[in-house]
Amino acid sequence: MKLVPKPPNGNSSKVDTLLSAGDPGFKKPVSRSRTIRIDFRDGFVAPESLMDKFVIRGGNPLVGSVRISGAKNAALPAMAAAILTDEPVILENIPDVRDIQTERNLLVSMGAEVELGYGRASHRTTISCNNLVNPEAAYELVKTMRASTLVLGPLLARMGRARVSQPGGCAIGARPIDLHIKGLERLGASITQEHGYIEASAERLRGGHIIFDKITVTGTEDLMMAATLAEGETIMENCAREPEVTDLAALLTKMGAKIQGAGTHTIRIHGVEKLHGARHRIIPDRIEAGTFVIAAVLTGGDLQLTSCDPTHLGSLIQKLEECGVSITSGTDSMRVTNGHQLQAADITTEEFPGFPTDMQAQYMTLATQSQGTSIITENIFENRFMHAGELARMGANIKVEGSRAIVRGKTPLSSAAVQCSDLRASASLVIAALVADGETIIDRVYHVDRGYERIEEKLKSVGAQIRRIGEILPKRAAAPSVVA
Ligand code: EPZ
Repeated sequence: MKLVPKPPNGNSSKVDTLLSAGDPGFKKPVSRSRTIRIDFRDGFVAPESLMDKFVIRGGNPLVGSVRISGAKNAALPAMAAAILTDEPVILENIPDVRDIQTERNLLVSMGAEVELGYGRASHRTTISCNNLVNPEAAYELVKTMRASTLVLGPLLARMGRARVSQPGGCAIGARPIDLHIKGLERLGASITQEHGYIEASAERLRGGHIIFDKITVTGTEDLMMAATLAEGETIMENCAREPEVTDLAALLTKMGAKIQGAGTHTIRIHGVEKLHGARHRIIPDRIEAGTFVIAAVLTGGDLQLTSCDPTHLGSLIQKLEECGVSITSGTDSMRVTNGHQLQAADITTEEFPGFPTDMQAQYMTLATQSQGTSIITENIFENRFMHAGELARMGANIKVEGSRAIVRGKTPLSSAAVQCSDLRASASLVIAALVADGETIIDRVYHVDRGYERIEEKLKSVGAQIRRIGEILPKRAAAPSVVA
């Protein structure tokens, strides 16, 4: 199925495509309470599913095998990279999660053609940006997903201008993008910010020397993409070394870019005149894999994870071994077996290869079940303990003091009604509910859908008692602005 922009009628961001039975990719509603309809007028999946809840009965060990999906945080910059060429870019192993749908809508709103694979190719996307008419990322889309700002560098490099909504505040922290802007200015862009938008222009970007004040993942990705079409060489220092950055550099290199040092703190990019199309397979999602590892450990299961990359999870595996967990790793698989007496251990979140902040919430749930006191220090985001209050509602003993959370365990968890506040906090609640005594109801699971592909189906397939219930909302319910 091809998503194409409607011929501009003064409002090129409007596209109108509804799936009906018989259309490739139309998914027969799986249950009374869940219908998938794509309605671009609001730029994201229909509001119905925004009120979905999970009902989870705890106490079942996870036994069996789960296939890990492609990484959301590698797929998003890769899709933005397609803007850099007028030739098709084919991306495989794209996760079927809400943020990817938002990114597709964003690209289509600019004039791109986005082809979605279906059936066996349902995790493949072909993006053609040969007719970009509208270099703008509108507030309506950016407010639902701040990673939309990743189009800023590519649009500027390819089109010489970009208008991108400021992302605004976020549940887990202020998350400014000042380092993206400073970096682009060092490449010769002139940037103004007014009425909530960043207006950027440059005849052609010029290579330059950028030292990031702070390590930023999407900042490194945004500037690396921009520098591929700049005139001359760009040297970037204090870069992020996350596997998603290295994966993006691999795609850009396949597109003809000249990049050295991705995965280290110093990246050199020799700008080229033009980039071409490419085919690329997105790396596995290390955070989804880590989430399932902790779920298996806490439910006392025997779980095999396939299509994952254990080398991306070194710090988590090491920490879990410190807690007394044994994990067997293969090249693209991991196995967690049961029978662990968990010992408390402290963590401090760091940039890669340190302990990932995106695993902090899930680790907090584990710490509630460990013998002793674990101190969790969050160094990356200033407000990433929203899940602590919800876990406490389930009986956990957690004290938050600024950027530290003191977790005393082991405390039995009991079912309760809880609600998600951001993507990873929701994962920590799903894991807690799998352990808790009784039936837990988790509200606002649209947060989970943003970054986990069909998590309830994957969990159910290995023995969890979980179901999704949805409330049919009156049409056009306004969507909350979620950005975490
Ligand atoms: C990426 O966000 C990930 N998102 C986040 O995952 C992840 O938590 C984060 O990196 C850290 O690993 C994507 O890749 C789409 P940063 P990003 O820029 O790039 C400050 C998830 O759950 N900063 O590395 O936005 C910032 O406020 C998400 O999947 C500035 O001050 O994070 C933060 O304190 C959540 N100015 C720190 O740097 C800037 O211009 C690191 O943020 C940029 C960042």
